[in-house]
Amino acid sequence: MLKPLPWKLFLSFTATILLALSAMPTRGGVPQDSTAAPAPAATAAKNQVKSTPESQAKAKSLYQIDCAMCHGDNGNGKTDVAKSMGLTLKDWTDAKSLSDKSDQDLFNTIRKGTDKMPPEAEGRAKDDMVWNLIIYLRSFAK
Ligand code: HEC
Repeated sequence: MLKPLPWKLFLSFTATILLALSAMPTRGGVPQDSTAAPAPAATAAKNQVKSTPESQAKAKSLYQIDCAMCHGDNGNGKTDVAKSMGLTLKDWTDAKSLSDKSDQDLFNTIRKGTDKMPPEAEGRAKDDMVWNLIIYLRSFAK
């Protein structure tokens, strides 16, 4: 027959855990390991995503739904929407148009949007997909 767990046992168990937790080193207290991997923010500056034909096909269809109305099917920015909204869009078929921007710059613009461009939300495109979009839109210049 099972006896109910004695309270004393339970309490001392809890105390042990609390003690163990408080004994754990805090972030500020220990010097950071200098060999540790760099923070994600630093590595994200470069496009880490390896695109595949499948991921590029997905990027292309997302681009056509969410972006092409302004930026154009081929990325040249000459669209009716751009004209009617008075938008100044770069011609991405010219490699020079994006040469001064890092992939991280493009990522930030796509995620945050601008006052003229709606942001692409996380729920709509995961980070991987945004990186794929960037590979896709840089490919317009090829
Ligand atoms: C409503 C029109 C509109 C839509 C939709 C739109 N953009 Fe833009 N986008 C702009 C404008 C306008 C700019 C130029 C910056 C500005 O004027 O704010 C821009 C700038 C950018 C830039 C910065 C580089 C550059 O050419 O200036 C990137 C990258 C970009 N858009 C990607 C996208 C992607 C990817 C999508 C779809 C997920 C998208 N845009 C959807 C209007 C749009």
